[in-house]
Amino acid sequence: MNLLEIKNYSMSFRCESGIYTTLNNINLNIPQQSMVSLVGESGCGKSMTAMSILKLLPKNAIIDSGEIIFHNQNILELSNSEIRSIRGNKISLIPQDPMTSLNPLYTIGNQLLEVINKDKSISKEDAIKKAIEVLEIVKIPKAKEKLNAYPHEFSGGMKQRAIIAMALATNAELIIADEPTTALDVTIQAQIMNILNEIKENLGTSILLISHELNLVGQYSDEINVMYSGRIVEKAPSKTIFENPLHPYTIALLNALPANNHGKELKTINGQPPNIQEVISGCRFNPRCEKMIDKICNVKSPALKEVEPNHLVECYLYEI
Ligand SMILES: Nc1ncnc2c1ncn2[C@@H]1O[C@H](COP(=O)(O)OP(=O)(O)O)[C@@H](O)[C@H]1O
Ligand SMILES: [Mg+2]
Repeated sequence: MNLLEIKNYSMSFRCESGIYTTLNNINLNIPQQSMVSLVGESGCGKSMTAMSILKLLPKNAIIDSGEIIFHNQNILELSNSEIRSIRGNKISLIPQDPMTSLNPLYTIGNQLLEVINKDKSISKEDAIKKAIEVLEIVKIPKAKEKLNAYPHEFSGGMKQRAIIAMALATNAELIIADEPTTALDVTIQAQIMNILNEIKENLGTSILLISHELNLVGQYSDEINVMYSGRIVEKAPSKTIFENPLHPYTIALLNALPANNHGKELKTINGQPPNIQEVISGCRFNPRCEKMIDKICNVKSPALKEVEPNHLVECYLYEI
């Protein structure tokens, strides 16, 4: 069963010079108790996908089409008060810049209790119990004592755990983790990923994991969606993405990973993803693509096609 379904969703931004498509026909299913990833370089539309689910888009965003279904409701059609009862409750965000999302003036305990006490029926004792419990889930040592700590007393990794604990304190069915480990070093990244995986396994929570690093999401994701310039260009189970990547962009991302270069120099991808205002004829990856077929790829956009069961790719190489 799917907990959340994004169907044919497109979104644009109104800018001074015009209106620009930012997300183009996104389809994404997040099954119950799953970890689904969105991967792509910066600017590809990952955060805007997340913000669409939370209905927290910037003011100049225009929703062009599609639906985001959660519990039989289209989130896009909910009123502000209806979405507020879902956001930070059934759907929680671990934001891209977590270091600013703890309030330096309040203890960790106070901030957790503020979230937990949104549930008016919970007793004071149970609320404290729950605050300790969520800190224990994210493996903060001496959880009870740490309730009285202030954020500045925590290291970067501990702060991030505390933020995940805040997301857990809400009873979220879906946690959206937007680049949850970007500012952290590699060992701590792995620990945070382990914690997210345990949350999925033990609590049954679904996780939408957003990252620009394929190697980070590989181990635990059930499905990987590779995004490029506002489109999902490849979608497959994690194992398939690593064993049989098809889209030249996915292949380029994999070749840029240290583990895959077998001691050779890292092969970074030439150039940058286009910004939304850039006009590109045909496939938006074609100017950077090593496999570009002239008069095809630079003429018309390819469509996302299922090339083998559960493996979708948007590329002419697999159409002709
Ligand atoms: N308020 C805005 N107005 C215009 N363009 C925006 C706005 N916010 C984001 N963008 C653009 O939308 C694109 C997608 O952004 P985002 O989803 O944040 O990318 P990602 O999270 O993959 O790095 C980017 O090109 C970004 O510059
Ligand atoms: Mg982002």
